[in-house]
Amino acid sequence: MNINTHTNIKEAKEAESCTVPAYVCLENISLTLSEKSILKEVSFSLPATGISSLIGPSGAGKSSLLRCLTNLYGNWQGVISVAGVNTHSWLGGEDALRRHIGLIAQKPSVFPASIHDNVIFGLSRKERKQDQSLRIEQCLKQAALWNEVKDRLHEAANTLSVGQQQRLCMARALALEPKVLLLDEPTASLDPHSKQLIEASLHDLAKEMPSLCVTHDLEQAQRLQGQIIFMCDGKIIETATVNDFFQSPKRLETREFLRWSVCDCD
Ligand SMILES: Nc1ncnc2c1ncn2[C@@H]1O[C@H](COP(=O)(O)OP(=O)(O)OP(=O)(O)O)[C@@H](O)[C@H]1O
Ligand SMILES: [Mg+2]
Repeated sequence: MNINTHTNIKEAKEAESCTVPAYVCLENISLTLSEKSILKEVSFSLPATGISSLIGPSGAGKSSLLRCLTNLYGNWQGVISVAGVNTHSWLGGEDALRRHIGLIAQKPSVFPASIHDNVIFGLSRKERKQDQSLRIEQCLKQAALWNEVKDRLHEAANTLSVGQQQRLCMARALALEPKVLLLDEPTASLDPHSKQLIEASLHDLAKEMPSLCVTHDLEQAQRLQGQIIFMCDGKIIETATVNDFFQSPKRLETREFLRWSVCDCD
């Protein structure tokens, strides 16, 4: 082995094991559900700011990965660290971790309560007793929902459309002032105008925190900038900047996926 090869292997290992500056770092994450291997040694990192797009075919394991990040699946293997702290030993436990890492799930789940109460649902009893009207307005604006609900905040949340419910879930997550944002297809049920507003809001939020956005919309992934993480069959196929990913993808699987929207990575 010559010196250069040795250096390259060392650099690759360092990048893989998150010795490069990263706010969120996943190392060799594996997950088995019902005896099926869902995630296979997934490693990547998120920088302190900016949006990363997680893409890949249906069933690739994208939602499962987000659930591991917030410990909604408890049986994953590997190491996840956030701000240098192993999430398994997070101070304050899972509730504190889920406050730090906001997850906007693929399927909206509003609570049987008013729009207003849904936004403040995750706050502590003490916080809920204080006047939260400014926080509610800000979060609903960030979720591009304020104009549609400002005159009906005390109506039941389940009277909202699916797209509106999804944005309400985003407002509820933002009300907890997370330091990391995970979004699972946040604009899948939205009309083009709402989608545009959410993307603008994501760009603003990502100036202050790392965001990981699952999307099937490759044009959206390009608009979001940041890095692209391409997954298939529970594995990371390629991680690259937007320009490198779309203009000079390294892996054959990536080129096929970009061309045919399918991935044959088995
Ligand atoms: N609780 C579970 N038990 C068994 N298998 C599961 C469970 N949850 C998910 N899976 C399987 O894990 C795989 C990955 O699912 P996941 O929802 O993470 O995919 P995805 O990439 O988010 O897909 P989509 O783009 O359709 O949302 C799928 O094959 C799915 O059937
Ligand atoms: Mg999913």
